[in-house]
Amino acid sequence: MELVVQVRRIDDPASETDEYRVLIGRIWPEGISSAQVHVDQWMKDLSPSEVLLQKSNSFSEFCAAYQKELRADEKKRRCIIQLLEKAQNHRVTLLHVEEASSKAQATVLQNFVKTVPLPKILVLFASEMGNTLAIAQEMAKGVRQAGIIPEVKDAFGATIDDIKKFDAFLFGSGTTGDGELPDEAQDIYDDLDELDLKGMPCAVFGAGDTSYELYCEAVNTIHSKLVELGGDLILPDFKVDFSMSEEEEKQALQLGKQFAETLWDRSIQKNTQQISIR
Ligand SMILES: Cc1cc2nc3c(=O)[nH]c(=O)nc-3n(C[C@H](O)[C@H](O)[C@H](O)COP(=O)(O)O)c2cc1C
Repeated sequence: MELVVQVRRIDDPASETDEYRVLIGRIWPEGISSAQVHVDQWMKDLSPSEVLLQKSNSFSEFCAAYQKELRADEKKRRCIIQLLEKAQNHRVTLLHVEEASSKAQATVLQNFVKTVPLPKILVLFASEMGNTLAIAQEMAKGVRQAGIIPEVKDAFGATIDDIKKFDAFLFGSGTTGDGELPDEAQDIYDDLDELDLKGMPCAVFGAGDTSYELYCEAVNTIHSKLVELGGDLILPDFKVDFSMSEEEEKQALQLGKQFAETLWDRSIQKNTQQISIR
């Protein structure tokens, strides 16, 4: 899907296609009152550093150095994640002021946001009674809030080729027997050995029951396997005693969002597309 990110001068008339207007630049534009213009969000932190603004001799030098700052600076990456999340569902308009450096900033940002690769996320679940499924759905909702549409798939019948299509996955399972994996999860669990997860971001969750001696043991079993295969567990394990409380629903949603945002953050840091505006 092609992201729509437009660039406009703040005092140009707003267009019908402006769905979410973001002002860039550290200082509010001189001579313009906030009542005159529509701004949905002011992202001051996206501003290039003072050193960069003073030092760059040419546009190409500025572009290269600013892109480096966008990747390296955590506050800037936070802003870009917000832009990316918005841009999945809205036309985003970046508003700049008259100066050439402000226009250059907007153009670099526009291209940068458009070239960040969209992370592909799988939410795999094994659930006999529906409690782990409910967690999976809430986590998927959190992922969607971060602008990424995940695939939510029953572990029963899933293959490792399904996992290979994704950049990251969350694996949820209930526990049965004396701390065992349910049949629904067993096949895919056994097949995981054929995968080299080598730093692949993943996370584990599941429902159990504290009245059993081995509480949520399936979560522990899957966790150990993913670590053994080189997976990068980027969330703490999320365990629920039978069904989620309202508070746990919020936590599951938040964890899903955090998972997706961590992937966005990594995508931004890896975005080495060279953008030049000349
Ligand atoms: C036969 C049986 C054995 C179970 N053994 C365990 C166990 O060892 N540890 C645990 O934490 N929960 C155990 N449970 C509880 C389930 O894990 C719990 O009900 C959970 O909600 C099931 O997840 P699901 O709804 O996604 O299927 C067991 C449940 C059944 C019916």
